[in-house]
Amino acid sequence: MYDLVVLGGGPAGYLAAERASAEGMSVCLIEKRFLGGVCLNEGCIPTKTFLNSAKIYDHTVHGAAFGVSASDVKIDHKAVVARKNDVRSKLVSGIAAALRAGKVKVVEAEGKIVGKSEGFDVSANGEIFSGKKLLITTGSSAVVPPIPGLKEVIASGFAMTNREILDMEEVPKTLAVIGGGVIGLEMASYFNSIGSKVTVVEMMPKIAGPTDGEISSILLKNYTNKGITFELGAKVTAFGEGTVEFEKDGKKTTLNVDKVLVSIGRRAETANIGLETLGVETNRSAIVTDDFGRTNVPGVYAAGDVNGKSMLAHTAYREAEVCINHMMGKNDRMRYNAIPAVIYTNPEVASVGETEESAKAKGIAYKKSSVSMMYSGRYMAENTEYDGICKVLAEEKTGKIIGVHMLGTYASEIIFSAAMMVECEMRVSDVKEFVFPHPTVCEIVREAIFKMK
Ligand code: NAI
Repeated sequence: MYDLVVLGGGPAGYLAAERASAEGMSVCLIEKRFLGGVCLNEGCIPTKTFLNSAKIYDHTVHGAAFGVSASDVKIDHKAVVARKNDVRSKLVSGIAAALRAGKVKVVEAEGKIVGKSEGFDVSANGEIFSGKKLLITTGSSAVVPPIPGLKEVIASGFAMTNREILDMEEVPKTLAVIGGGVIGLEMASYFNSIGSKVTVVEMMPKIAGPTDGEISSILLKNYTNKGITFELGAKVTAFGEGTVEFEKDGKKTTLNVDKVLVSIGRRAETANIGLETLGVETNRSAIVTDDFGRTNVPGVYAAGDVNGKSMLAHTAYREAEVCINHMMGKNDRMRYNAIPAVIYTNPEVASVGETEESAKAKGIAYKKSSVSMMYSGRYMAENTEYDGICKVLAEEKTGKIIGVHMLGTYASEIIFSAAMMVECEMRVSDVKEFVFPHPTVCEIVREAIFKMK
């Protein structure tokens, strides 16, 4: 009998196991594919290795503007894939080592909840692993909708999800990306940089989902100028071998492409894990949890993508910690209002808190300050396209910072300071007293704050 059985070894699962063992719990973690889950193996980290290679390539190709020229610059996509695999395996081994150090029992097999006896029972590898507490961290998988032909073209390899595209070694001459959300845009950015002719087909009238509308428009313009074709308000109606058919403004169009990426969202992975044996409540496949990570079954918790709330690795880490803290009787709870989100395109998009759109929808009266990144000397020194912006929203009455949104270099790194401002409920007047290092791009937040009326 373990104190805790964790089902799923992604960011939520492995971190929970580490934290629980540090608290003195005996822990068994069951993982059917790879430790590190989607994030390390087919998500966050692999895509960042791709995008970093693209950035180096782009810088080299367009270096003349900075007085640097090189001839015969090439990007070797196979080498990029090999490096991705190397980084991934190093990180996965690091997790395995941390779990070993914490004396976590790792079971590499598919686990299935089979009910409750003395503890919560999970069967894996023909054995039963029983825990006084159970934490479900089975993550999410790509949505594959019932569009005619899609199943067949995924089976043939013509269409891929985020999983398969990261192992594709050839560079398709033409690539259709279905869904202009986070995965779609990051992959469109990479393949556009390395020479594919990319078309993004997005159902909504804008790209980048809930991203601030102004920033989404700038990103659209930036990538249109870089050669990506965007079909917005376009609904895919059928796939064939080598074709994607979509409908836009009542008109049907057929794209002939070499490959297709389907990135239209992810769904919590709860099928066939035996939730029904315990009566765990779900809502559209996601496990329903409260702010402590508890499910409706006492002793059973869930964290990460499987609860369908935020579907980000960093949210998963924090949710896992909250679950373990709650099991240990510590005072902690999950808050979702200051979770930063980043799209690692080039330029990067980063945001935290309310957007103008969400503030209006909630009836929050706000004031805003939006400045060009050109106010940052460092940004000017290091860029040639000057379309970056930083937008800060504050509550009208109190001056409390409720949202920060930016597009530009280092946005992914800068956003953490903004997330702290939102999390700590700082006011515009508080931030005015901060000293920012100079010259940095993060000074842009200070510029925006001082321009707030
Ligand atoms: P997403 O929800 O970000 O975007 C999906 C897009 O597909 C939406 O814009 C939607 O309107 C569009 N769409 C849906 N059905 C469609 C159809 N039939 N035809 C055309 N367009 C359609 O989902 P995505 O990009 O698959 O990412 C999945 C999850 O992974 C997200 O929750 C995201 O947060 C996470 N993720 C986060 C990353 C990051 O933090 N940088 C990187 C990659 C993924």
